[in-house]
Amino acid sequence: MKEKLENLVTLVKKELDAVSKEAEILNLKAKYIGKKSEFSNLLSSLKEMSTDEKKVYGPLLNSKKKELEALFTTKIESLNNNIETDFDETLPVNINTGSLHPVTLIAKEITEVLKRMGFTVLQGLEMEDDYHNFEALNIPKDHPARDMQDTFYLDNGKLLRTQTSGDQVHAMEKYNVPLRICSPGRVFRNEDLDASHENTFFQLEGMVVDKDIKIENMFYVMKELLNEVFHQDVKMRVRPGFFPFTEPSFEMDMCCLICNGKGCPTCKNSGWIELIPGGMVHPNVLKKSGIDPDKYTGFAFGIGLTRLAMMKYKINDIRYLNSGDLRALKKFEIE
Ligand code: DAH
Repeated sequence: MKEKLENLVTLVKKELDAVSKEAEILNLKAKYIGKKSEFSNLLSSLKEMSTDEKKVYGPLLNSKKKELEALFTTKIESLNNNIETDFDETLPVNINTGSLHPVTLIAKEITEVLKRMGFTVLQGLEMEDDYHNFEALNIPKDHPARDMQDTFYLDNGKLLRTQTSGDQVHAMEKYNVPLRICSPGRVFRNEDLDASHENTFFQLEGMVVDKDIKIENMFYVMKELLNEVFHQDVKMRVRPGFFPFTEPSFEMDMCCLICNGKGCPTCKNSGWIELIPGGMVHPNVLKKSGIDPDKYTGFAFGIGLTRLAMMKYKINDIRYLNSGDLRALKKFEIE
């Protein structure tokens, strides 16, 4: 038996020397030590042997099996090593690195400025409940303001948030006062698409609540913010607006930078871009989140990040931004 096994090892070595592909090695392995191999039959025959025979042949067969297995493993490893050394490191490669989306870039830039002003950056959830998206923001079930924001409702009773304003509520619940937060994120509305409307876009919510906060604080912060983001003295104008969660409410516009205020399709020939709605936080909103409106006041705003990116990077069609066209999206960077 011993001699037979030695011969087998020699034979396997010889056959392995003659092959160079992994599949061939595996075939040999199956042939010589696989389930249907003669070697396997020898191993099975151990069962029928006497105790004395088992003592002799058991260790012998097992050590030979290990030796044979090692032969196959070593051969396969040597193949893999060869693959590495065969690799030509000097061959030219096509390095196609990714780039950040313009909305990501603008969100990064604007939150950096806000952080310097003492704002904490939060991140809300895209799946929101009715309470945080509407109810807590002074928009009860039958309120007409719900029609302003066509909502995608989900089967689980929740909804895709139509605005980042719900993050104001989460922040008040979690941190109470004084509060200075901002929260960039994606929002959804069931809208038809055109050059300036998307069903998925980005906003940045901001809220400051403290003692003696006045509307002029908001105008100052907004003006500073835009000047920093655009690296120039940005022309702004303020109009009255309406939102159920702010009183008084405003619309803050910036001079269209695509046409420098002359009028173009992006600004609908008005020379102005509606960019930042906001106002003084409605006392009902503070009250609902457990803050005493007689002691504290605050302002809130919701910047249209997508529009801001369009202005910053002079993109005249909103659909570019969700197009996934890398040639279009690659050319933007932080100044
Ligand atoms: N959430 C509003 C919208 O999507 C925008 C907004 C208005 C946000 C006034 C605010 C605010 O924080 O005070 O139309």
